[in-house]
Amino acid sequence: MNNFVWYNPTRIIFGKDTHKNVGEETVKYSRNILLHYGGKSIKATGVYETVTKSLREAGVHFTELGGVQPNPRLSMVYQGIELCRKENIDFILAVGGGSVIDSAKAIAAGVPYDGDVWDFYAKGVKPQKVLKTGVVLTIPAAGSESSDGSVITKEDTQDKCSCTTELMFPQFAILNPELCYTLPEHQIRAGGADILSHVMERYFVPNRNTDLSDRLCEGTMQALMENLPKVLEERQNYDAWAEVMWTGNVAHNGLLGKGREEDWASHGIEHELSGIYDIAHGAGLAIVFPAWMKYVYKEHPERFVQFAERVFGIGKEGKTEDETCLAAIEALEAFFHRIGLPTMLQDAGIGREHFELMAEKACRNGKLGSFKPLTKEDVKAIYETAW
Ligand code: NZQ
Ligand code: ZN
Repeated sequence: MNNFVWYNPTRIIFGKDTHKNVGEETVKYSRNILLHYGGKSIKATGVYETVTKSLREAGVHFTELGGVQPNPRLSMVYQGIELCRKENIDFILAVGGGSVIDSAKAIAAGVPYDGDVWDFYAKGVKPQKVLKTGVVLTIPAAGSESSDGSVITKEDTQDKCSCTTELMFPQFAILNPELCYTLPEHQIRAGGADILSHVMERYFVPNRNTDLSDRLCEGTMQALMENLPKVLEERQNYDAWAEVMWTGNVAHNGLLGKGREEDWASHGIEHELSGIYDIAHGAGLAIVFPAWMKYVYKEHPERFVQFAERVFGIGKEGKTEDETCLAAIEALEAFFHRIGLPTMLQDAGIGREHFELMAEKACRNGKLGSFKPLTKEDVKAIYETAW
């Protein structure tokens, strides 16, 4: 096991009705906040009304900035920074999913910074000060509610880049599984694929002697694969949603990667897809991950054999090592198909026209991943495998 530091300061407030107390939680940090949200969903579902009522009752003054789009844009971040400075705001409450939370984190980093906030995303500059944030989560997927990262797209260049710093952990995240009942089917599927991918990015690594985190990863993947189909079938199944929502958090709060490398090549390869084609990040991962697996499994086949046996119950008997690995990849693809996600680019309406450019951008900071460090040529070959 590798040396590690485990730190995650985000307070998780989980369960029925919990978002009704967001005012009480927020006022611990500020009485003058930015309320940040996405499109129409929070107003249509009543979440907006509940949250604003609770803020008013707690004596929290809020300035609103809605309209965050999925794959959040830099222009909205600039708008938020300006607004916060004008109104002397020192806390941002994000009500929504990964896109709203990531936009909130970017604004929070940009407000105290004299330069261009994009420096944190494109130039590797590390923020020295970041405003505090809180979250009411409405979709289990990205795990941004208690992650140290934020992913933003710069519209004019279609660059989708990330910034990570411990200063970006939200102070609290309210997770009420009931808020998931209104999610569109496509977002549920994509969210599920993203959750699973966050575990797989940590599971498929070259390390040995990682028994505990292997088992935690395997159990988390199984819980997700068991419960996601249940919520697709029965939209108001609280218990199944609770499992999915908690799984989404555990998958990306950092714990599962402790003591081991992490990979993140598939995320890097996917971010270029959603940066250019504006598809849901999780839907992109359902295409990229199986292709990545087919391309790299021979580097450490024992990982895939363990994945086959422990996650899918595929025995080794009567099969070569190669056949067992491929059976596991097929089982993963079958899960994605079962929940209604395509696993090939063509089936998502994406052509081959940008493979070269996307591969180049994905490797803008050097090789990708640790399972098999990938060059630009490897990444291009993975896009071809997915086509
Ligand atoms: O905009 P509104 O109207 O609110 O609709 C949203 C949006 O269209 C809708 N939605 C959310 N909750 C709903 C709802 N509709 C009905 N009922 C509800 N309860 O869902 C749509 C998608 O929302 P979005 O926030 O984009 O989804 P997600 O949470 O999947 O976030 C994706 C973004 O997170 C980034 C991705 O790259 C992508 O940009 N990621 C962030 C990470 C991080 N910061 O740690 C890690 C991830 O790997 C990921 O890269
Ligand atoms: Zn993700």
